[in-house]
Amino acid sequence: MNATATQLDNRNQLLVRLAESRLVTDDLLRRVRTDALYDRPIPERHRIVFYIGHLEAFDWNLIAGQARGLGPAHQEFDRLFAFGIDPVGGGLPSDQPSDWPRLPEIDAYNLRVREELDRILDDSSPASAGRGQYPEEVILNVAIEHRLMHAETLAYMLHQLPIKRKIAPGSYRPVGSPQPGPPIAARMIDIPAGSATLGIPRGRETFGWDNEFEIHSVQVPAFAIDAYKVTNGEFLQFMRAGGYDDQSFWSDADWKWIKEQNIGHPLFWRKRQGSWFHQTMFEEIPLPIDWPVYVSQAEASAYARFVGKSLPTEAQFHRAAYGTPEGVEREYPWGDAPPDAGHGNFDFRRWDPVAVGTYPGGRSAFGLEDTLGNGWEWTSTLFAPFPGFEPFPFYRGYSANFFDGKHYVMKGGSPRTAACMLRPSFRNWFQPHYPFVYAAFRCVSN
Ligand code: AVJ
Repeated sequence: MNATATQLDNRNQLLVRLAESRLVTDDLLRRVRTDALYDRPIPERHRIVFYIGHLEAFDWNLIAGQARGLGPAHQEFDRLFAFGIDPVGGGLPSDQPSDWPRLPEIDAYNLRVREELDRILDDSSPASAGRGQYPEEVILNVAIEHRLMHAETLAYMLHQLPIKRKIAPGSYRPVGSPQPGPPIAARMIDIPAGSATLGIPRGRETFGWDNEFEIHSVQVPAFAIDAYKVTNGEFLQFMRAGGYDDQSFWSDADWKWIKEQNIGHPLFWRKRQGSWFHQTMFEEIPLPIDWPVYVSQAEASAYARFVGKSLPTEAQFHRAAYGTPEGVEREYPWGDAPPDAGHGNFDFRRWDPVAVGTYPGGRSAFGLEDTLGNGWEWTSTLFAPFPGFEPFPFYRGYSANFFDGKHYVMKGGSPRTAACMLRPSFRNWFQPHYPFVYAAFRCVSN
């Protein structure tokens, strides 16, 4: 096949993936009862209805506007639905449901945008698709991964919606009361000093977001790391030891946050008649002792201090997940095979975690379990540009708006992370006081 034919093939694959990603977000929104679509399950974020319009407005602004230089699809909606919010410092939005357009109008907008975009994308002639500064393949990857990221962040949001306001899919199998397996014996793994490769090189076929460039190598001194993510059972010991009432485990800012917000347990936990329960997406179940605990970075850091350890840096995560005793680094923790169902709990197969260590097929060369999937992992690394960072000219704020010393890098992936975002260079980030994320952690000793 000549180069042009291969490129067109890739392009067709991207169009198929865009169509598939639309099915993912469409199906997710069907989990919300119609009378809950104007709810705001997370006080700091937009109402659900915003996201219904956002996905199409984003695609239009990016593909038609930025890449092809076409005019608006809808004067008002293209802008109304353009940007989400990530408030720093406790300010809460105060808009009312009546401030938003009605559903039929948004549905009509979405339908029109999809039809128009599909028609536009059908024309891949260089005169049209080659207009922009960037290959349209990059633009399409941005649209696909942006949508798939929202399939995850929207799941965090729907998680906070009362169960009665959601509709489980027909294929959903209740978690019920998971039988704890044989208790896992927490242990740490020694990682010898060595180098870790972060980022990806420019000019390769693989897509990466602006923050994944440039590739560079980091020397990592020897350290030890937990083989498993910290479990609910382990975190319960921190609770029982009065962890949330002992200031010595918390930074000043984190302490202020938990006391002001009256936080005394992980957000996903509920106490009923003296016993702890866990809220999954569609059920409330007795606390699954051997599932990874989902917590904010502040709570993860406090736990780490309680056990005399700390959170890994981004480079330590890389070294432990992708490094090998022989020195060469792997493409994935388990080897070179692309991610599949035997490697971990990711790619929308489940709504919730499973017990740590359920996927021996995903074990890293050094023996870490669940490095990809079953919950993102907090690091102690502030989200900042790699050397050689350049924002995408068509989406300048994607990363750069968050290089503010207020967001931390998360690595790995959750049950609701699409497989394409499990590449080693992918970097996620959130504020340390944002407890809604499917984020777990493991600790290191330096
Ligand atoms: C990369 C997941 C932190 O949700 O804030 C979506 C992704 N950016 N739309 C976020 C994103 C703009 C971003 N995260």
